[in-house]
Amino acid sequence: MAGPQHFRARAWTASRFVVPDPVWLTPFGYLCNPYFIQQQADRYGRTFKLNQFGTGAGPDPRQRLWQPVVCVMGMERAQNILREHDARLLPTIAPFNRFVPKGYLRYMQHQDHARYRKILQEAIKPAVIDANMPLIEQHLKSKLPGLASAVNEHRLAPEDALKELAFAWFILLFFGLAPGDARMQLMRHLYAGIDVASDNDTEVEEALNELGATVLELAQTYLDPGPGGTQPGPSVVGEIVLADSEALRDINTLRNLIYMAQASWIDFSGLLGWLFKTVCEEPAWAARLRQEAVSALPPDAAPLSLRFVQEVLRLHQSEYLYRTVLADISFDGFTIPTGWLLRFCTRENHRDPAIFDQPDAFNPDRFLDPAPTRKEYSPFGASRIACLGVHLTHRLATCFLLAVTENFDCSVVRDGPLEFRRWHWKPSSKFHARMVKRTAG
Ligand code: HEM
Repeated sequence: MAGPQHFRARAWTASRFVVPDPVWLTPFGYLCNPYFIQQQADRYGRTFKLNQFGTGAGPDPRQRLWQPVVCVMGMERAQNILREHDARLLPTIAPFNRFVPKGYLRYMQHQDHARYRKILQEAIKPAVIDANMPLIEQHLKSKLPGLASAVNEHRLAPEDALKELAFAWFILLFFGLAPGDARMQLMRHLYAGIDVASDNDTEVEEALNELGATVLELAQTYLDPGPGGTQPGPSVVGEIVLADSEALRDINTLRNLIYMAQASWIDFSGLLGWLFKTVCEEPAWAARLRQEAVSALPPDAAPLSLRFVQEVLRLHQSEYLYRTVLADISFDGFTIPTGWLLRFCTRENHRDPAIFDQPDAFNPDRFLDPAPTRKEYSPFGASRIACLGVHLTHRLATCFLLAVTENFDCSVVRDGPLEFRRWHWKPSSKFHARMVKRTAG
C-alpha cells in the first residue's frame, strides 16, 4: 500500500499550512473575522488547511468535535473538483435530513437525486412564480407601512420583520395559500414546530405529520376543488399533483417539499435583510432604482434592480460550499483524506480583485457588459446540485427592492460590526434603520 500511504503522507504535509495560532484558538477564526479565510489564503496560498468546529460552517450543536477542513480558493478550481470528484463528495448534512427516509434532495443517492430533482424542478417553474407576482406585490405594498413602523420604533429587528413578510410569499408559492387565508396561522405554528434547530425528534415528527396532512389537503383542492369550489392559483404543490396525482403519497416528495419551502425561505430572508441594509447604506443607488423605468438600457442588459440583487448576492449572501470527503481525493499535489471537509470559498472568490475591480465597493454596474462569467460569479452553486430557486429569488428580491425604494427613503440610524449567527455572516444586531414615506413626485 505504498501509493496511498505516500499520498496520505502528502496530505498530512498539508498540515504545514495550519494557521500558526495557538491551537485552541484555531477553530474560531472563521467565526470571528469575515476576512479570516482570505487572510489565511494570502499567507498560505490557494489550498490550505485549518480546523473548525462541527461539520457545517458554524459550530454544529450536534457535533462539537474539531474537523480538519481544506479550503480551496478560486471558482474554476472549485467547479473542476466538484465535477471530477462528484461521486466522492457529499454536501455536509443538515440535521433535518434525518426526517426524510431517502434524504433531503441534495444528500440523496445519485439515482434518487436525479428522479426527485426532476419532479421538484418541473414544479418550481418560472410560470408558477410569475403568476403569483401580482398577489405578492399587493401583499408587500399593504405590509410596508407596518414594516416601517416596526423598524422605526425598533419593535422588531429588520431581519425578523422581513422573515415574517417572506413567510407568506413562500407559503403562497409552495402551497397556494393566499396571504390572508385563515390557515396561514396554522402553517406558521407547524413550521415553528419543525424549526431546523430543534432536537426534540418526537415533537418534530408530530409537527411534520400534521404539516404533511395539511399539505395533502391543500394539494387535494387542485385535484378536486369540491362543489362550487375553484382551483387555487398555481403553486409548486399544485404542479406536483397535477403532473402526478399520486406523487405526494411518497413521503420523500412530501417531506422534501416541506423542508425545501422552509430552507429556501430562511436563505431568502437572509438575502432580504442584506438588500434592505444595502438600500439604507446606498441612497444614491436607491435613487437610481426609482429612475429605472425611464433609463435607456440596451435591450439585452439586466435591469438595475436585478444587478442590485446580483451585487448584494456577491458581497453578502454567497459564502461557501462545503463537502465531506467520502474517499481520498487528489488535487493540487495533495491528497485530501476520507472524512475531512472541503470548503469552497465563494465569498472570497467573489471578492477577488483580479476579477472584480474594487471588490469591496458596492457597484451593480459591474454586471453590465461584460458581465462576469459563471466561472467568476456563482452565488447559486454550479454543480449537480445547483440551486433550483434562481428565478424565484430574482423575482421576489427585485419586487421587494423596487417597492421599498419607490415608497420609502431608508437610512442607517445605528450599526455595528458583522455578526456570525447560525451559519452565516449577518448584519449587526445593533443595526437600526429609518424608513420615511416618500411623498408623490
Ligand atoms: C438567497 C437565495 C438563495 C441562494 C444564495 C441559494 C444558493 C444555493 C446554492 C449555493 C446551492 C448549491 C449548494 C451546494 O452546492 O452545496 C443551492 C442549492 C439549492 N437551492 Fe438554493 N439558494 C437560494 C434560494 C433558493 C430558493 C428560493 C429555492 C427554492 C426553490 C432554492 C432551492 C434550492 C435547492 C432545491 C437546492 C439543491 C438542489 C439539488 O439538490 O439538486 N434555493 N442553493
